[in-house]
Amino acid sequence: MEISVMDDVKHVPCEVLVINKFEGEETSQELANVYAVAKDHFEGKLGQTYLLHTLDKIPADKILVVGFGKREEFNANKMREAVCKAVKKLQQIHAKEACFDFDVNCDYGKSAVIGAMIADYAFDKYKTEKARHLEKITFAKFSQAEINEGIIFGEAMKFARDLANEPAAYATPSRLAEIASNIDGVSAKIFDKEEIERMGMGAYLAVGQGSVQPPKFIHMKYVGKNPKKKIAIIGKGICFDAGGLDLKPASSMLTMRDDMSGAACVLGVMKALSKLEPDVEVHGIIAACENMPSGSSYKPGDILTAKNGKTIEVDNTDAEGRLTLADALCYACELGVDEVIDIATLTGACVVALGTTVSGIMGNDEDMISTLIRTGKDSGEKFWEMPMYPEFMDSLKSDIADMKNTGTRMGGASIAGVFLKEFVEGVKWCHLDVAGTAFLEKPQKEFIAGSTGVGVRTLLNYIKD
Ligand code: BES
Ligand code: MN
Ligand code: ZN
Repeated sequence: MEISVMDDVKHVPCEVLVINKFEGEETSQELANVYAVAKDHFEGKLGQTYLLHTLDKIPADKILVVGFGKREEFNANKMREAVCKAVKKLQQIHAKEACFDFDVNCDYGKSAVIGAMIADYAFDKYKTEKARHLEKITFAKFSQAEINEGIIFGEAMKFARDLANEPAAYATPSRLAEIASNIDGVSAKIFDKEEIERMGMGAYLAVGQGSVQPPKFIHMKYVGKNPKKKIAIIGKGICFDAGGLDLKPASSMLTMRDDMSGAACVLGVMKALSKLEPDVEVHGIIAACENMPSGSSYKPGDILTAKNGKTIEVDNTDAEGRLTLADALCYACELGVDEVIDIATLTGACVVALGTTVSGIMGNDEDMISTLIRTGKDSGEKFWEMPMYPEFMDSLKSDIADMKNTGTRMGGASIAGVFLKEFVEGVKWCHLDVAGTAFLEKPQKEFIAGSTGVGVRTLLNYIKD
């Protein structure tokens, strides 16, 4: 889909002219006011659409009116949702080309483009019959800068979604490493098994040892022109989570190719950085491996030593994400960065607590947590803070090691959070649990089933500002 800007699209011939209507107001097109508003009482609630054939009365063949809801409640997020609905309607009528001419006095071009690109997304690589796509859309009124930024964000999301939607047979640790090595404007160092061993990452290594796919520890680095801040972002990169010897039941295993959604997000963000050029130093870190059952798997009762020397008794091999993140967090904390953010499909408990529309957030710095929550809200992604009381460590007590990797199921998201905290030292840190939001079993709001690319928008906006 080609996206461009034009000053005035009204007098240009175009297949579909897309205009907006606020509730209780008229539109900028007389024809739409006569038919949609006066005759058919089209209300213009957010996301509602009304299609009108113009019969050669204006240069466009058709007018699509999209509802913007109440003017006083309109914002960037609503712009994204409305454009998304409009694009889905355009796909439905097999439109190839559309001009968007919204009667608004705000420059929400970035949100509009992101909405269009989310709506246009399909994962049809393996289908003989491909999804319908619009060929070209043009926006009037928005600035080129906003449109460009929207395209960068939209492409980063698409990239992350594609990668997380790919079968595990494709998106292996080695493939993630290869992708990381080929990102423009980003340097990448890949550590293989022997080097991971030498670095003392005993927890991460144990998780990957049951798989024939070798683990790959990925460290990417982007350096802006005048870096004012250093941030590390860590993505959980379990390319397939079978549960290990504590094997998952078939129904829970079905979508576990999504267990590298955090890694896909980090790769998407790194890919966008050299285009956005923020004045920040960003480290992208992924401890990629598979969690498989086999004769060489790590076992319940094993005692692992993480990079910081702390020992962990394996209580359940399916609580593997926190083990890989433990070593990745130790590594990140040694980089001399100001802040570390990890993003992980970490706990089923987080899904139980918050569902599929809200991600969990925890951390050791209240300012950083609230800034991320606010950035998420402005980006169209919801985060809700989960508590991190020391009491959550109680159920992780071990008789034979410093801690166990698994506590009670109740309060599981927080327990995982306090476990991770044991491996954070000397930096501000936030943990994003996206187990419920990264991958949808059925369509939800703007998203089709499958990967959502959660975190990409929030992290990019957070880094940028
Ligand atoms: N990858 C899963 C968490 C998950 C669950 C992600 C559902 C997406 C959807 C994680 O590795 C896991 O298996 N967690 C266990 C932990 C338990 C054994 C303490 C869980 O949540 O059941
Ligand atoms: Mn697991
Ligand atoms: Zn997992």
